[in-house]
Amino acid sequence: MKYLQGRDFLTVNDFSRDELWELLSLAVKLKQESKAGKAHHLLRGKTLGMIFQKASTRTRISFEVAMWQLGGYALFLSAQDLQMGRGEPVRDTARVLSRYLDGIMIRTFDHGEVEELAKHADIPVINGLTDLLHPCQAMADMQTILEKKGKLQGVKLAYVGDGNNVAHSLLLAASKLGLDITVAAPRGYEPREEVVTAARYNASRDGSAVIVTSDPLRAVTGADVVYTDVWASMGQEAEQAIRARVFKPYQLNAALLAKASPEAIVMHCLPAHRGEEITDDVIEGPQSVVFDQAENRLHAQKAILATLL
Ligand code: CP
Ligand code: NVA
Repeated sequence: MKYLQGRDFLTVNDFSRDELWELLSLAVKLKQESKAGKAHHLLRGKTLGMIFQKASTRTRISFEVAMWQLGGYALFLSAQDLQMGRGEPVRDTARVLSRYLDGIMIRTFDHGEVEELAKHADIPVINGLTDLLHPCQAMADMQTILEKKGKLQGVKLAYVGDGNNVAHSLLLAASKLGLDITVAAPRGYEPREEVVTAARYNASRDGSAVIVTSDPLRAVTGADVVYTDVWASMGQEAEQAIRARVFKPYQLNAALLAKASPEAIVMHCLPAHRGEEITDDVIEGPQSVVFDQAENRLHAQKAILATLL
C-alpha cells in the first residue's frame, strides 16, 4: 500500500472503499500476528508527535503503544504547553514540526484547525478527534464489527444518541463499507446535514441505507449492532443538565436492546456514563463488546500509521 504513504487521515471519507478495506485487512493481520508473538518494526526510527487539546485515555495510549510496537517513537505534546497555546499560528507549528517528525496526530476542538495543520505540514496528519469527526474510532469500530459479525456488507448498525463526532465518522465509514446505518437522535441534535448527505452519496453506490430518525425504537428494531456515545461531548460540559433531559428517551437500556436482533452486539467508544446514555447492566452484559472495541484502536491505528508514515 505504498501509494497511501504520505496521505493525511482527517476523515474516512477521503479514502475509497478499497483503501479502507486494505487498512482494515492490515489491522486484522497485525492483530493476529502480534498476538502470535510476531514483531512488526515497520516504522523503525520514525517519530509521531501527538498534540492534545482535549483529554484522552484510549487515543493517547493506543497511539503511543502503536508507535512503540512498530519500532518508532511517540511524543506527547500538550497543546497548553506548546507555543500554539500562546498564539503561535498553526501554519508555523505545522512547518516546524515537519522538520522534526514523521507524522502528527492531533486531538482538538475545531476541525478547521486540523485541516490547516495538514495543509501546511509536509508530513501526514492524523485526526485523533475533533468536534466534527473521530475517524480512527470508526476504523476500530469497523474492525470490531467485521471480527464479530464476519462481514460488513449488509450489517444493520443502529446509533442512538447525539449526532456528534462519533456518529458522523460512523455514518461515513458505514456508508463507504456497505453497512445499513440508522441514527436516532432527538430533534436539534441530529448529525450535520452535510455529513448525512455525504453518507447518502456513499451509500447510493451499492444501495445500502442511511436513515436519520428521532425514534430510537425504529433504529434499534432488528439491528445487528447497537451503538451509543455520551450525551455531552468534551467542550459541552455546560449543556450537561439540559442534554440529560433531552436525551433521556434515548438511553440504551435492556428494554431498548431487547428490540434488536438477539445476536446484536453493543458498542460504545468510551468513556461511558453509566446510568445516562447506557445502563450498567447493558454495558456489562453478554452482548457488550466495548473492551474488544477499545483494544482495536491499537490495531486499527497501527495499520493507519504503518501505511501513511
Ligand atoms: N474513544 C476515545 O477516543 O477515547 P479517549 O477519549 O480516551 O481517547
Ligand atoms: N463524543 C465524545 C467522544 C469521546 C471519545 C467526545 O467528543 O467527547
